[in-house]
Amino acid sequence: MISPVTWVSALLAGIFSAAEIPNKTFLIYEGVSYTYEEIDKRSNKVAQVFAERGTVKKGDTVALLMSNEPDFVCVWFGLSKLGCSVAFLNINIKSRSLLHCFNCCGAKLMVVGADLLDTLEDILPNLQEDSISVWAMKKKTAYPGVNTLMDKMEEASDKPVPAKLRGITCLKTPNLYIFTSGTTGLPKAAVITHLQSLKAAAGFWAYGGTSDDVIYTPLPLYHSAASLVGIGGTIEMGATCVLKKKFSASQFWNDCKKHNVTIFQYIGELCRYLCNQPKGENDKQHKVHMGVGNGLRQDVWREFHRRFGEIRMCELYGSTEGNLCFMNHIGKIGAVGRSNFFYKLLFKYVLVRYDMVRDEPVRNKQGFCEPVRRGESGLLLSKISPQSPFFGYAGSKQLTEKKILRDVFAKGDAYFNTGDLMAEDDEDFISFKDRVGDTFRWKGENVATTEVTEILGLVDFIQEANVYGVEVPGNEGKAGMAAIIVRPDFKFDGKKLFDHAVRDLPTYARPLFIRLQESMEMTGTFKQQKFQLVASGFNPSTITDPLYFLDYSQKCYGPLTTSAYESILGGQCKL
Ligand SMILES: *[C@@H]1O[C@H](CO)[C@@H](O)[C@H](O)[C@H]1NC(C)=O
Ligand SMILES: *[C@@H]1O[C@H](CO)[C@@H](O)[C@H](O)[C@H]1NC(C)=O
Repeated sequence: MISPVTWVSALLAGIFSAAEIPNKTFLIYEGVSYTYEEIDKRSNKVAQVFAERGTVKKGDTVALLMSNEPDFVCVWFGLSKLGCSVAFLNINIKSRSLLHCFNCCGAKLMVVGADLLDTLEDILPNLQEDSISVWAMKKKTAYPGVNTLMDKMEEASDKPVPAKLRGITCLKTPNLYIFTSGTTGLPKAAVITHLQSLKAAAGFWAYGGTSDDVIYTPLPLYHSAASLVGIGGTIEMGATCVLKKKFSASQFWNDCKKHNVTIFQYIGELCRYLCNQPKGENDKQHKVHMGVGNGLRQDVWREFHRRFGEIRMCELYGSTEGNLCFMNHIGKIGAVGRSNFFYKLLFKYVLVRYDMVRDEPVRNKQGFCEPVRRGESGLLLSKISPQSPFFGYAGSKQLTEKKILRDVFAKGDAYFNTGDLMAEDDEDFISFKDRVGDTFRWKGENVATTEVTEILGLVDFIQEANVYGVEVPGNEGKAGMAAIIVRPDFKFDGKKLFDHAVRDLPTYARPLFIRLQESMEMTGTFKQQKFQLVASGFNPSTITDPLYFLDYSQKCYGPLTTSAYESILGGQCKL
């Protein structure tokens, strides 16, 4: 470890160049190695460019829209050195949501990767209208009004900027905003303080990682798993990180062998894709001894061990913004973690009974929640206290309040609502069961049903839409499905809906299935009833309502026939 104190302050004080590891490889990307010192100097250049021009100052928020590449890290660190908060934007989100992200984190400047500039074409005028200055990681650009950063970095000094420019005053000041798809509406910016960055960075270390480890990160840096646990954890240990632009199942093991990778980061899907690769004779010949991530299902977990050897899989449970986390130190298959006496002193969490039909926690006669019995599934809540604070979301008290459950066991208490159903067994192992409420996960991304509902509502023939996730055998998470009511005098138009979904929704958020309904059921508290719809799935032989599916080959939502249904289940039709 470079420092027992904090990697953040280490980073800011520029100790990479002063410490004994400047020449150690920090990042490997597309075959090129970058030392700690190189990354540090390059991030100084970023800081110098903005400092010289007085473009940003301490306390400003800057949005970062970049794919995985070393410069993501340099820009992030460079701006941190100026005392700016950096907001990571999901590179998949579409224009409408992107504009919203600026509003909620208050960013007035955006740095965009060279490969992503063209995706902004349609919203550049809007950004300029809002006087948001756009800086592209290029030497020149044809877009009027867009600044270039690369040319200026070439000329800038690589010396550290004066420390007085940043002056971190408190570990609880935000240094990052990470957008999460939340329970309501558009993406929310979770406020990440220095303190949380530190906790997340301890991930590998807590599992016994050392400076000799080589960490493989194929997950997107705009999520906290890759940026905080991956990059932060690498620095914390003084290790090396092999950064991948995008996960590729066919390249995974070659990469690992080539770079002597010892630890990799995963999400459940990724392990499944690896298991689905053709078997090879050398499947077990590698140096990988640990995987850190979450969402690994039991069947995949076992198969993964059979195929690739006894790699210790360490499940890490915790949301970006949440105030607790679980770790499965023992590697017990299926568990996200294990609690113990001390853990319970540290984190006051509880599982309470949940009414799936009404879609809310069960309240007793006194109006309080009830803990579940051991072994039963319950909604995971975590007490909010000075020791386990919840910093909420930027720019919205209302959104923050929605994640807080009050008067749980006593008047006036407050708990962070994880939205996850979990169960705890006799040996204190905790396992994930299901996600409740208005989000589901697909392809490693959270999808907010209300966000999709709003976008579908813009289609002229849709009167009402109810979005939920359905299980598709052989896939992690849940696939998006929408029950819709067609306006009187209008007809369902699969082509129009397809064009709309592809234009306005990221791939993972597009409903894969559509169910036409005459009327929509409500819960007792006037929420759209989802439970029955989720349970009945998308099988055309048991559902009498007309069903459609997202058919990329025909570029439209086409009728979900029994044969289409079977080819989806059989995996011939790609989702
Ligand atoms: C790092 O490498 C540079 C150039 O190769 C060398 O001058 C310097 O002494 C090295 N630093 C350490 C601490 O090994
Ligand atoms: C990987 O390890 C082998 C044997 O331990 C070594 O010969 C090789 O140089 C290492 N490769 C890299 C890229 O470090």
